Amino acid sequence: MRTLVKNIKELVGVETSPKLRKQGKEMGQLETVKDAYLLVEDGKIKSYGPMSELKEVNADRVVDAAGRMVFPTFCDSHTHIVYANSREHEFVDKIRGLSYEEIAKRGGGILNSAKATAAASEDELYDMARQRLEEVMRMGTGAIEIKSGYGLSTESELKLLRVIRRLKETSPMTIKSNFLGAHGIPMEYRGHQEDYVDLVINEMIPRVAAEGLADFIDVFCDQGFFTVEDTARILEAGIKYGMRPKIHANEMAVSGGVQVGVKYNAISVDHLEQMGDAEIECLKGTDTMPTILPGCAFFLNLPLSPARKMIEVGLPVAMASDYNPGTSPSGNMQLILSMACIRYRLTPEEAINATTLNTAYAMGVSEEVGSIAVGKRANFYITKPIASYEYMPYAYGENKVERVFLNGVEV
Ligand code: NIG
Ligand code: FE
Repeated sequence: MRTLVKNIKELVGVETSPKLRKQGKEMGQLETVKDAYLLVEDGKIKSYGPMSELKEVNADRVVDAAGRMVFPTFCDSHTHIVYANSREHEFVDKIRGLSYEEIAKRGGGILNSAKATAAASEDELYDMARQRLEEVMRMGTGAIEIKSGYGLSTESELKLLRVIRRLKETSPMTIKSNFLGAHGIPMEYRGHQEDYVDLVINEMIPRVAAEGLADFIDVFCDQGFFTVEDTARILEAGIKYGMRPKIHANEMAVSGGVQVGVKYNAISVDHLEQMGDAEIECLKGTDTMPTILPGCAFFLNLPLSPARKMIEVGLPVAMASDYNPGTSPSGNMQLILSMACIRYRLTPEEAINATTLNTAYAMGVSEEVGSIAVGKRANFYITKPIASYEYMPYAYGENKVERVFLNGVEV
C-alpha cells in the first residue's frame, strides 16, 4: 500500500540523520522541505523531498496538500486519561483561594478521582478514555503515554492498566503504559504511608509485572505525597521487574525528586516547576529527559519551569500535556506548543522539537516516531492552509490540524 502526499507547501520536522533527542542548541534546529512530497509505503515513510525531484510513482492513493503544511504528529509523553469524573468543583475552590495541596489534604484531589474511578467498571473507563484518545488524535497527537494512578488499590490499579492495554490493542496510536500506584496516599494509610509503599512494592508491582501491564514505573515524589526514600524503594522494585522509571518531581517543592530520578536512570523527570541550580546541574550528561507540563502550571498558576536556562546549559527539554482531571483537563498539544513559546520563551523550532522528538524520547519511542524520517512510522498531520510554520504556535486556541494520518492511514 502506497500513499503519496504531494504539493506540500512545507514539510516540517524532517530529519536527514535522525537523532534520538535534541538538546541545547540542537533544539533550535528544524529541517524543512518547501514544495515537498511525502511517500508512504506499508505504514512507514519511504521517501520525501522537493516536488521537483518526485519521480513517477505507482501510488494507491494520492493526497493533494496544496497550500497546507505537513508536520510529524505530536507525542504526548505524560497523561492520566483513564479516570471517571471531572473535578470542576475543585477548580472553583481553587479560584476561591484553596491550594492544590489543601484540597488534597482534606481528601479531595487524587483521592476524589480514585473514589469515582474505583466505582466505574472497566468497560466504562475504557469508553471514557477511548473518547479522550479520539479527541487528542483529531488535534494531532499520534503517540501517547498513559498512567494508572486513580486506582490506589491493587484491584483498581490493575483495572486501569487493563484499560490501557485495551487501548493499546484497539487504537492506531502508539501507546505506552506507566504504573503510578504511588500517586496519592489513601486516607486509611495517612500517618503510616510506608505501609502503602509496602503494598505497592510487595503486591501491586509483582501483579502488574505478572500480567505485563506496564512499560514504566512512576511515583509522585513531592512535598505532601511520596518522599525520596519511598520513591527510591518503589523505583528499585519496579526496575527489578523491567519497568523503567519515569517520575513526577518538583511540582510542589524542591523535593529531591530530580536527583532520585536521575540516580535510577529515569527516562524522564516531569513537572519541574521548582528547580534550583543543583537540579539543573544533576541532569547534565544523563539519559534523563527533563519534561515540563505547561498545562499544569497554567491551570494551577504555578511558577514556570526554567526551560530557557536548561536549554542554554545544553540540556534537552520536552513538553507534554499532563492531561488529567485535577491539574490539566486538556490534552491539546497545539496549545502546549503555543504555551512553550508564549510562556517559556522557546522559539517555534525549539517548541516543535520539545513536543515531538523529545517527548517521543521521553516515552521511549523516538526511534519510531517524533519526526519525518525515512523508515519511521508515517505519523503526520496536514494543516489547514497556513502561511508559515510559526503560525502553529502563534494562533493559539484555534485548531489548525485538518487531517491526521497514523501508520500511513487517515484516521
Ligand atoms: O501530574 N501531580 C500529580 N499528578 C497529576 C495530578 C493528579 C490529579 O490532581 O488528579 C499531575 O499533575
Ligand atoms: Fe502527571
